[in-house]
Amino acid sequence: MAKFAVVFGTRPEAIKMAPVVLAMRQNPKWDVRVICTGQHREMLHQVLEVFQIRPDYDLDIMTHGQTLEDITTRVLQGVGEVFRNWRPDLVLVHGDTTTAFAAALAAFYAQVPIAHVEAGLRTADLGNPFPEEANRRLTDVLAEIHFAPTEQAAENIRREVRGSKEVYITGNTVIDALLQVVEEDYQFRTPALAGLDFSKPIVVVTVHRRENWGTPLVGICQALREIVAAHQCQIVVAMHQNPRLQEVFRRELDGVEHVYLIPAPDYREFANLMKRSKLLLTDSGGLQEEAPALNVPVLVLREQTERPEGVAAGTCKVVGTAPQRIVESVAELLTNAQVYNTMALAPNPYGDGRAAQRICGILEQKYTV
Ligand code: UD1
Repeated sequence: MAKFAVVFGTRPEAIKMAPVVLAMRQNPKWDVRVICTGQHREMLHQVLEVFQIRPDYDLDIMTHGQTLEDITTRVLQGVGEVFRNWRPDLVLVHGDTTTAFAAALAAFYAQVPIAHVEAGLRTADLGNPFPEEANRRLTDVLAEIHFAPTEQAAENIRREVRGSKEVYITGNTVIDALLQVVEEDYQFRTPALAGLDFSKPIVVVTVHRRENWGTPLVGICQALREIVAAHQCQIVVAMHQNPRLQEVFRRELDGVEHVYLIPAPDYREFANLMKRSKLLLTDSGGLQEEAPALNVPVLVLREQTERPEGVAAGTCKVVGTAPQRIVESVAELLTNAQVYNTMALAPNPYGDGRAAQRICGILEQKYTV
C-alpha cells in the first residue's frame, strides 16, 4: 500500500488541502494520513469540521503570541518524529506557511520525497510577504513534485528551481473547495450575518498579514470609516483570531454605524457571505483566487501580489494600504457600474474546480501499488 502524509496547520492550507485529501481517500489502495500541526487551533478546526476530516496526528503546537521560531522548531520536531516512526512514501505540503516549510524540511531530513501543492507563486521581493515568500521558495527547492496552479507559477519553478523535472499545472484546489460549500439559498447561522440587508451593497474585509500589523491597519480602518460615511453600504469585517489585529479593529471601528466586526466565521459561512457581497477588501491570497469564481471584485490591501493572474485578468486590483487610495478605489466601484461590471465579470484564471482530481491522477500514475 502506498503511504501518503498530508501536512497542514493553518486555516487556508486546510481549505485548499481538504479536496486533495478527500479525493486521495477515494483510492482504496492508498493509506492517506493527515498530520495537522495545529499552527492555528480554532480556525483550523472549523475547516476540518466543514469538510469532515479528522486528523490522524494532531500536534497542537499553537501558543498565543507564537514566534516564527516557535512554529518552525515545534513543527520540525513534531512532524519529523511522525515521519521517522511511520515512513510515508510521499509528503504533501501546501503553499507558503511556516508549517509547510518546516514540514518540508522535516521530510527532507527524513529523506522522504515532497510534493508541493500550490507551488511556484512569487513576488519579486524575498521579504514581502514576510515570511511567506521565503517559505514558498525554500519549499519549492526541497520538493520533488511541483503542483503549480497556473502556467505562470509553473514557469517560475522551471526558471528558478534547477533540475526540476516534475512540474504539473493543475489549477488551484481552492476552487474545488469553494464549489463544495457555496449554495444558492444559503441561510446564515451567525446572527450578525443573518441580520444583514442583502438588498444593499455589502463590502467584506479581511486583514491578517504581518506587513499590515500596526500603522497600515489603522489606515485601513480610517478608510472603512470614510467609506461607510460616504456610501449606502454595510461593511463586514471578518476578524482573524490574532489578538494583535482584533485589538486595533475594536479600537478603531467599534460602534461605527453599518460596520459589523465579527470573529472569522467558518468557511461555509464565509464563502456564502462572499458570494452575496458586492466587493472584497483583503490582504489574503486565497480570497484573490476565490472571489473571481463568484464574480466579486477584489481590492488587494497590499503593495504587491504573488497572484498576478487575477490582476492581468482584471478581477483584482492592488491598492495598497494608504487610506485615500482605498477610499477612491471603493468609491469608483460603488458608483461606476461599467468599471464594476468589467471587474466582476472578468473570467477566473485560477481553475475549474478539478485540481484535486488532476493531482490524484498524476499521483496514480506514479504510485500504482
Ligand atoms: C499564518 C501564516 C500565513 C497565513 C495565515 C492564514 C505563517 C508565518 N503565516 O499567519 O501565511 O496566510 O496563517 O491565517 O505561517 N490564533 C488563534 N487561534 C487560531 C489562529 C490564530 O488564537 O485558530 C492567534 C494566536 O494568538 C497566534 C496568532 O493568532 O499566535 C498568529 O497566528 P500565526 O499562525 O502565527 O500567524 P497568522 O497571521 O495566522
